[in-house]
Amino acid sequence: MRLLLLGCNGQVGWELRRSLATLGELVAFDAAGADLSRPESVAALVRDLRPAAVVNAAAYTAVDRAESELERSRTINALAPGALAREAAALGAWLVHFSSDYVFDGSGSAPRAEDAPTGPLNAYGRAKLEGESLIRTSGCRHLILRTSWVYAARGANFAKTMLKLAGERDSLNVIDDQVGAPTGAELLADVAALALRRAMAEPALAGTYHCVAAGHTSWHGYARFVIERARALGHPLRATPEAVRPIPTTQFPTPARRPLNSRLSSAKLREHFGLVLPDWRAGVERMLTEVLGR
Ligand SMILES: NC(=O)c1ccc[n+]([C@@H]2O[C@H](COP(=O)([O-])OP(=O)(O)OC[C@H]3O[C@@H](n4cnc5c(N)ncnc54)[C@H](OP(=O)(O)O)[C@@H]3O)[C@@H](O)[C@H]2O)c1
Repeated sequence: MRLLLLGCNGQVGWELRRSLATLGELVAFDAAGADLSRPESVAALVRDLRPAAVVNAAAYTAVDRAESELERSRTINALAPGALAREAAALGAWLVHFSSDYVFDGSGSAPRAEDAPTGPLNAYGRAKLEGESLIRTSGCRHLILRTSWVYAARGANFAKTMLKLAGERDSLNVIDDQVGAPTGAELLADVAALALRRAMAEPALAGTYHCVAAGHTSWHGYARFVIERARALGHPLRATPEAVRPIPTTQFPTPARRPLNSRLSSAKLREHFGLVLPDWRAGVERMLTEVLGR
């Protein structure tokens, strides 16, 4: 069985190289090899390669920049996934795609289920939502995995930014009124491969799922945990966990508005696939061990 992976150098894409390799012949492309800003060219790639499944880990993930690069972010995050979905439908192939907590408006405090009303607050979230919708209406068999606050040992992410800043400064100000679950690319890639294998055997499992680590925290709680564990692992940092000061979102203006409540309920994923998802701290700790052990 042939699988086509797009975005193979991203946080999730890199981990998918490992997890998907167990399913069959993996053909992987980075942005240079398959450019989603040209949807017709990636559609042609699918037509040529005729994979049994397309796994799309490529995305325009610069949330703030998306506010001023509306056309590019929409092409990559909505139109290209739509084109991939149409080709997958024509071939009878599966499409695995990743989406975001930012499709929601972040009101309330409860974790959201997959069928909760959407209401993106920013251009990135609107494009990700449109991408989901184009995939669903294409009629292709698909798995859309919505996730949040992704990190990995490889690539840029919040945890690594905190390590860098805590090494340079005595104190940090970090937002404490946005809540979500830091989720490891490794976990996402493992779940995606397992879910694809199961869904190919049992197509009724197709659909949209929330895939996040268990538990939740704020960016402030996440930063403190990263600094505390890094210090415990013997990594010298100027800032202590106590020197991470909580600030409200209003004190950290950004071009893109972000949801305050990014909590996603993973109950459907856990029930349909019989999974136990680890607490967010377990994966962050493992990532830190890998990053700091280098
Ligand atoms: N990161 C998060 O916190 C987060 C949260 C929720 C959902 N998600 C979703 O999870 C998925 C994986 O995200 P990630 O964290 O792995 O993102 P990432 O590390 O930013 O990786 C995205 C990959 O897409 C590639 N890419 C960008 N523009 C492209 C183009 N025009 N054509 C082909 N590839 C292109 C990038 O390549 P270059 O590096 O060469 O540009 C990069 O390798 C995405 O669908 C994202 O929307 C992420």
